[in-house]
Amino acid sequence: MGETKGSIVGAAIVSHHPGLMQCEEFRVLQGNGADSDLIAGYYRIRKKLDAVKPDVLLIFDTHWFTTGYHLVDGGAHYSGKYISEEMPWYLYGVPYDYAGEPRLARLIEDVARERGVQTRGVYDPDLQRHYPTINLINKLGKPSSTGTGMSERVVSVSSCQNCRPEHYLQSGAVIAEAIQRSGLRVALLASGALSHKFNEIDWKPNNPRIFDESNVSRPENVASDKAAIELLKQGRHDEILRRWDGEYRKIFWEAFGAHYLQMVGALGGAACTLQGEQLSAYENARGTGNVHIWFGV
Ligand SMILES: [Fe+2]
Repeated sequence: MGETKGSIVGAAIVSHHPGLMQCEEFRVLQGNGADSDLIAGYYRIRKKLDAVKPDVLLIFDTHWFTTGYHLVDGGAHYSGKYISEEMPWYLYGVPYDYAGEPRLARLIEDVARERGVQTRGVYDPDLQRHYPTINLINKLGKPSSTGTGMSERVVSVSSCQNCRPEHYLQSGAVIAEAIQRSGLRVALLASGALSHKFNEIDWKPNNPRIFDESNVSRPENVASDKAAIELLKQGRHDEILRRWDGEYRKIFWEAFGAHYLQMVGALGGAACTLQGEQLSAYENARGTGNVHIWFGV
């Protein structure tokens, strides 16, 4: 098309857990006197994003479950007030106002059709939002210089729930090719937890700091998550993928790992050796294992 080639300018696994959307005073109480480090971690990620200057934040959304297709949000603009059906007693009235990137969604669909991958764009701006996207926009979004909306466009990608791991890798590879053709600078944000087993409703904390890792659902989940974080820091995505069916699929990661697997698929799959930089403490949220990890390219 005669344009400059687009590129993936950075990638991250990012927590979006709803407790982070509580007010600071409440979070500090929950943290036994200190806030979650994931909050400070958002600033660390924002600094990384500012350094690489993406045009688009492409968010792998682990609450947008689809069946039969990987879907990509292709609306031109999204605005409204978000209310979570899951915890509307505190996650409500969250304003959002951001531009999408329909051209990228169409390119992703084009590449998918060429490759026989089941990915489609959805261009209706009324499509429901989910908080893995909304919370990140709230915490990582950079207001535009005009004071309304955001400086970066946002594209969300679904977690198709009838997929094997290789299907997520294929979806990611399609996205990478479309980004190249787009001429855009794109940062990938895999919005979700590692191990994702909830503590039950009447569970009592092991540690008064709710975010403490000893409050994650099971010690074996903590061990597995921490080993995964080490492998990610070493850039051993090949090893994570090798262990996927035997370990991480059983543990299991949020949305079957659709966020990580599509992200790493876009970064080359098992050939990816990008080393992760841990940008937050590893923390509990309702029994799930949460961390921010940045992958510079
Ligand atoms: Fe979640």
